Amino acid sequence: MSDEPEEQDVRLEARLTEQDTFEPSEEFVEQANVSDPSIYEEFEDEWPECWEQAADFLEWESEYDEVLLEDDAPTYQWFAGGELNASYNCLDRHVEDGRGDAVAIEWEGEPGESRTYTYSELLAEVEALAATLRELGVEEDDVVTMYMPMIVELPIAMLACARIGAPHSVVFAGFSAEALATRMNDADSEYLLTADGYYRRGDALDHLSKTDEGLADVDRETTTVVVDRLGDELEHELGEGQYDYDELVAEHEGESVEPVPRDAEDMLFLMYTSGTTGKPKGVKHTTAGYLAYAAWTSHAVLDLEPEDTYWCSADIGWITGHSYIVYGPLTLGTTTVMYEGTPDYPEKDRFWQIVEDYEVDVFYTAPTAVRAFMKWGTEYPEKRDLSSLRLLGTVGEPINPRAWKWYYKHIGGEECPIVDTWWQTETGGHMITTLPGVCDMKPGAAGPGLPGHDVRIVDAKGEEVESGRAGYLTVQKPWPGMLRTLYRNDERFLNEYWIEYSDPEADEWVYFPEDGAKVDDDGYITVLGRVDDVINVAGHRLGTMEVESATVGVEGVAEAAVVGGDHDLKGEAVYIYAIVEDGREPGEDLEAEIVEAIVDGIGPIAKPEQIIFTPELPKTRSGKIMRRLLEDIASGTDIGNTSTLRNPEVVEDIQEQVSDD
Ligand code: WT7
Repeated sequence: MSDEPEEQDVRLEARLTEQDTFEPSEEFVEQANVSDPSIYEEFEDEWPECWEQAADFLEWESEYDEVLLEDDAPTYQWFAGGELNASYNCLDRHVEDGRGDAVAIEWEGEPGESRTYTYSELLAEVEALAATLRELGVEEDDVVTMYMPMIVELPIAMLACARIGAPHSVVFAGFSAEALATRMNDADSEYLLTADGYYRRGDALDHLSKTDEGLADVDRETTTVVVDRLGDELEHELGEGQYDYDELVAEHEGESVEPVPRDAEDMLFLMYTSGTTGKPKGVKHTTAGYLAYAAWTSHAVLDLEPEDTYWCSADIGWITGHSYIVYGPLTLGTTTVMYEGTPDYPEKDRFWQIVEDYEVDVFYTAPTAVRAFMKWGTEYPEKRDLSSLRLLGTVGEPINPRAWKWYYKHIGGEECPIVDTWWQTETGGHMITTLPGVCDMKPGAAGPGLPGHDVRIVDAKGEEVESGRAGYLTVQKPWPGMLRTLYRNDERFLNEYWIEYSDPEADEWVYFPEDGAKVDDDGYITVLGRVDDVINVAGHRLGTMEVESATVGVEGVAEAAVVGGDHDLKGEAVYIYAIVEDGREPGEDLEAEIVEAIVDGIGPIAKPEQIIFTPELPKTRSGKIMRRLLEDIASGTDIGNTSTLRNPEVVEDIQEQVSDD
């Protein structure tokens, strides 16, 4: 936590808002996968055995002995003793069930071309790639990195790895070369799957040069497989240790590769995410617990059925895409839609065209996208037939009631429930949200904890706060989809997530997600945002320290403080306050250098909204930078009393600069 506890509580209080209530339609409830409210009681009474219901969504190679083992808490073990394979669960079982011709993936490229993969076709290509990876030397437990855009080869690569028991680590294609190298080095990963490029707003973007730049900084010798996405649009050459995807896969076409039985607790994948320090954290997810939880939440929250066509507009480079484009929907045998590009290309109705063309039943997106749709106006959704939609969802950041109501009315036609799903990279799947066939909805509040969860809002001492008051969000019982550790950093895992309110004597561990929240009398939770030095830009998690370290790496920058400020579309945006060394001119040139350093170090998502040069940063008498004050200035909110500062005179000057821009 960045600020003193008392200070933080006051701040969180200021984020509270009013709410009203909406009910799901009878029609929705009648067909819902879960519509009996007794599920909450049942999961409470029968905990942890209730989670067998999640495990039942999987086909096991050998049955598990225990639902939950708490011996090594807080590294819990779920479904211990069981063996299974995730790729078998996403593919073979459906083919064996006679659903081989059902569509697994509908893919649409930004220029408009489409590709359809049935479950049989997907299985065949996954096997060919699995055989390829083996031939290249990939062994069970080797971490294989993917640095790929939204093309079908990405989920194929993930499933091929899962098939041979090689954990994958997907790095978002929008991240920089440096970010790729850091993650590959941290995971000692020697294998990479990438692409020559992809389309963005009509342009063919070169991705391979960025990959090569990253590979130059990887400590180990690497083998790279390159998908040719752009064809003649962008010529590329393969270097040493680099192979063409199509050629390799063609060589192995028709080969069958048996799915490797994996222990329930074997790692399925690593996913790097931002934390309070500059170093990203490798969140470790396991095979059984994660997959069972992704499937169960896809069933209970997203209401997915095998017959559905479902579209989640996230990128697979984030956890949302892992759980709710790939693993959840495919385990359930659903048709999952993938789209390569942006929502406003060639026109601002692109998403609604996709919903219309594929007759999407369930649509899941981010509040930042909803706010953009709202700004663009109702004419775009009105041009298209959205009547196939049954359920809508949001994820990644709080959705403000105005955007919620717009989404409800103009996309859902006031007939589709909305699930506002709170969760994290670390939780593997949904944690706090309404069950759409059971609960009323309150715009702005995510909902109660899902069945089987014990979510409590506490104060700095760990005591539960009164309803309506702001406090810290905690999860007080383990769940199958939880992270098991941070890769090769058990200590950081323990310190970051568990130490705060845990009482080792009592052997009771409390998970602390670093979010502020309030709970109402009816148990509905409103998430108020991060309480650590992590900001949420357009639903993407960014560590302010990562941006700070890129900024101070620029010659002439002496010190920098990076904070999040409110932003109409992005939710939060990056604001940089920088002190310049003597002899260096603050101005456009330096600004450009800082932006470049950030794009090179992290990626374009971290580009600052504004850079404010200042001779000093506001500090407390003890010399701590007053980040809270800098956040308020960036957001244009009332900054209150500054008399406790060591240097109150700098505040006015900074404020003027921010409002001038
Ligand atoms: C952080 C996790 C969950 C997948 C995408 C982001 C914020 C997420 C909500 C929501 C309010 C939300 C939290 C959380 N967040 N969903 N529905 N309402 N805040 O995953 O990158 O791990 O970020 O996103 O602050 O801690 P992530």
